[in-house]
Amino acid sequence: MSVVKMETAESVSNGGGPVYEEKEETLKPEDLSEMLAAGTKEVHEKAENTQFVKDFLKGRIRKELFKLGAVALYYTYTAMEEEIERNKDHPHFAPLYFPAELHRHEALARDVKYFYGPEWQSQISCSKATQRYVDRIHQVGQEDPVLLVAHAYTRYMGDLSGGQLLKKVAQRALKLPPTGEGLEFYHFDSVHSAKAFKQLYRSRMNELELDMGTKKRLVDEAVKAFQFNMEVFEELEEIGKTIQEDVLDAGMPVHGAMGGDIS
Ligand code: HEM
Repeated sequence: MSVVKMETAESVSNGGGPVYEEKEETLKPEDLSEMLAAGTKEVHEKAENTQFVKDFLKGRIRKELFKLGAVALYYTYTAMEEEIERNKDHPHFAPLYFPAELHRHEALARDVKYFYGPEWQSQISCSKATQRYVDRIHQVGQEDPVLLVAHAYTRYMGDLSGGQLLKKVAQRALKLPPTGEGLEFYHFDSVHSAKAFKQLYRSRMNELELDMGTKKRLVDEAVKAFQFNMEVFEELEEIGKTIQEDVLDAGMPVHGAMGGDIS
């Protein structure tokens, strides 16, 4: 059991952005946030240790692959946020509905446009592994919406954690402009403290009225969500092997001429 600071109220106006009030609260092993953290610990380690992620962390990122990664995220978040919008009033999701703070669809559309140019929509397509992930998100959103919590947890909590490190690595390795173009996905404009926001999100998850069976199904779904992510990484890794080194070494123009069709 751990004692952490948990937020209990949001949007306390201070004339600026939202402020999250804190009070000491005790977390129990049967709290959803604890079950998710414990239940995904092993698969999180696996995800961190995929070759693609390890290379990325070392700054060994090739721009073409990074662009395809942004495309995969674009399709994933488009699906996830479409299903979140569909279920925003569902009692099992409503307390986790934070479009202004979290939603990434528009940021990703801007990133992909930056990389592929004004005709970006005709330049990209959804890869096989991404499509499997997207299909599952739609299935869950339409048939079993409580499981959306697992998908939102896996992506948004991750983005607010390791995502910030990835941003720095990518910015340096790809020599992207300091103004943030191409990396808007990693920038949460309306989240002033990732740590405080994650605590609010955890307390909101713990307030959902869920029986133990449903919480266990959520842990299983979160593990699946991690696996979908790993399959996308593995696919990118394979694509990386087919990209000619000389093209990469030459450095592609920002609005690449390769077309960039992921499939
Ligand atoms: C949490 C790093 C990859 C999902 C964290 C935390 C760190 C971290 C340091 C803890 C933050 C905290 O306690 O506040 C990394 C690194 C990664 C990586 C370095 C590899 C580059 C991933 C991936 C996913 C993911 C691929 C899923 C797609 C999560 C989630 C949490 C988390 C859901 C929240 C855990 C919880 O508190 O319940 N990550 N991560 N991470 N990460 Fe990652």
